[in-house]
Amino acid sequence: MIVLGIDTSCDDTSCAVVKDGRQALSNIVSSQTSLHSKYGGVVPEIASRRHLEVLIPVSHEALAQAGVTIKDIDAVAVTNGPGLLGSLLVGVCYAKSLAYAAGIPLIDVHHLAGHIYANFLGEKVPEFPLLNLVVSGGHSELIFMESHGRFSVIAETRDDAAGEVFDKVAREIGLGFPGGPYLDKLAETGDPHSIPFPLPKIRGSKYDYSFSGIKTRALLEFESGGKAERLKPDLAASFRKAVVDQLLHAVEELLINTGARSFAISGGVAANTLLRRESRKLAEELNIPLFAPPKALCTDNGAMIAAAGYYKYKVTDCCSPEGPWLNPLAGLEMQSWGEDMQ
Ligand code: KG4
Ligand code: ZN
Repeated sequence: MIVLGIDTSCDDTSCAVVKDGRQALSNIVSSQTSLHSKYGGVVPEIASRRHLEVLIPVSHEALAQAGVTIKDIDAVAVTNGPGLLGSLLVGVCYAKSLAYAAGIPLIDVHHLAGHIYANFLGEKVPEFPLLNLVVSGGHSELIFMESHGRFSVIAETRDDAAGEVFDKVAREIGLGFPGGPYLDKLAETGDPHSIPFPLPKIRGSKYDYSFSGIKTRALLEFESGGKAERLKPDLAASFRKAVVDQLLHAVEELLINTGARSFAISGGVAANTLLRRESRKLAEELNIPLFAPPKALCTDNGAMIAAAGYYKYKVTDCCSPEGPWLNPLAGLEMQSWGEDMQ
């Protein structure tokens, strides 16, 4: 089964052609970084206008690079949320039109399910039960799966997402945009033990996350040091360690208690060098296989949406219940497949 996957949830326009949920025949990502960098963040209106300009050419390129035409496509999978509403709208409208015109199913995919299924692209796939750490610019969640499409959210952030604080701290200390990869690189040159960051205590949950305190502490430290250039490497290293320590603080306990047979990290922040290193170490200690997508599949891409769409189609035996009336939802909740169709 060949699926065309489309993601326009934020500021990347991406289309990919994926065979049987595993083999990416193409994966085209048109980045808008240069358009947003001067504003220090994604400008929603600019993002949606750009999606509108490039989505059709990007989809044509994805088909051409895969060596197929629309006649070879069996289904279209599209992110219908969560994300920026205007951006999502462009992708969903296009996917609906394409599926309708080609007479093929339209599969709606939750963006985080997409990130999780990036780990199913390739030869070796995770075994269930599976514990996922999904960390992006908008989300930081631990999601447990007993089987395909059965998602149960164990932990989430109470305030900022991990990627968001990477970006904000990077911006305040004068690094590039988006800041996560720049801060990651700088952190490799600093001492992670130079500034202590206590692990936040979260009332009512021992698993949930909170990153805004870490962000504020990092910014105050920079200010009190007179914003000196020489502070930056140690600050970046200590801050990155604080974020990663928190992301992984409950993972060992959860892997043991849930009987998970695989551990997977995904989302843009899963490209982080320290998070990858520490996750690998933890998985090795527990003798559980770690799945982490190649860096290009950590950040937003159409291949992960096509992979999730393929499995959703197999599991539910159907496509979007709303068919041509499917609407994007900026705050779309994560539900298990099948439950969102009743
Ligand atoms: O998944 P993604 O492409 O978009 C969302 O769904 O949000 O994630 C983008 C986020 C940005 O905040 C970016 O700074 C962060 O992922 N990111 C990183 C790294 N590479 C990307 N954060 C930390 N270290 C990295 N190496
Ligand atoms: Zn994402």
